[in-house]
Amino acid sequence: MPQAPVQAKATTTTVAEAHPNIALVKYWGKQNRPGNYPATPSLSITLDTLTTRTEVNDATGGDEFFLDDEPKNDNKVSACLAALRTRYDIPPLCIRSANNFPTAAGLASSASGFAALVCAIDAHCELNLSKAELSANARQASGSAARSIFGGFVAMSEPDWTATELLGPDVWPLTTVIAITATQAKLTPSSEGMRISAATSPFYPAWITSTEEDFRQGIAHVMSQDFASLAELAEHSCLKMHGLMMSSQPGLVYWNAATLECIQVVRTLRADGLPVFFTVDAGPQVKAVCQPEVATIVAKALAAIPGVLRTMAARLGDGARVLAQVAER
Ligand code: DP6
Repeated sequence: MPQAPVQAKATTTTVAEAHPNIALVKYWGKQNRPGNYPATPSLSITLDTLTTRTEVNDATGGDEFFLDDEPKNDNKVSACLAALRTRYDIPPLCIRSANNFPTAAGLASSASGFAALVCAIDAHCELNLSKAELSANARQASGSAARSIFGGFVAMSEPDWTATELLGPDVWPLTTVIAITATQAKLTPSSEGMRISAATSPFYPAWITSTEEDFRQGIAHVMSQDFASLAELAEHSCLKMHGLMMSSQPGLVYWNAATLECIQVVRTLRADGLPVFFTVDAGPQVKAVCQPEVATIVAKALAAIPGVLRTMAARLGDGARVLAQVAER
């Protein structure tokens, strides 16, 4: 049932920020019910440095959406607004969103984008949602966005499929070095890829059941800050997800040659005793998660690989937050 009408302040710009997160135990596949419920639990780290900044104003006509200053007709943004309006009274909005990193190339821009959007709308329209409600609303737009509401180490699982913070960003500081190997948007969006994998991969049932056990182990490794065990588990979850993707029909191959080269280099570094592991999402970038003291060595090793366009480093970051509400002149 819609809540009591709220008066959005027509003269106010609300600004929110959120960061992408990277899953160490992956979500790939959806439950067969409305609401974009994941079929697997997941465990992630929220990054700092990479940021989506979203400004919300009341619009004079209908909704307007700009991504990196370009007007866009984005079905997922429209669906997010429509879903929110089934529950809350939200006026037409002008939304301006900007990423300081490549969009839709496997750097979780939809996670930070929808976390920032839901957070900005909540403040702008004075909805006063709890973190769990923000997470549930973000999840409906994009499963991984539910996790970017929180900082540090984050878990998302049954029964309610809202995310929760396991460890804040300062408790177990890790660094993630990201090797960018391509900047164009991915060929098969995650939602479509998940649908194909669920419908066609013979590995899908095993993926679902084994990820539940991976999640339980992942929580234990995070709570005991056991880097070596988390490294083995995260690489296993990543390679298992890519095995599932590749065994779909058509086969989903999100990697390029440099992706594989980065994976091999990270494995060699770990075999040589460096605390580092890799993970890769639905795109060709490689994320090397490491103890902060080896981040420079890891970044140098990845930057030297032909096909690596550049590297970026991030520590663990905070969850989505409102930066400012500025009255217009
Ligand atoms: C490979 O959250 O982008 O990054 O819910 O359809 O928007 P939708 O999917 P999305 O998928 C994330 C997939 C992943 C793994 C993960 O982040 O857990």
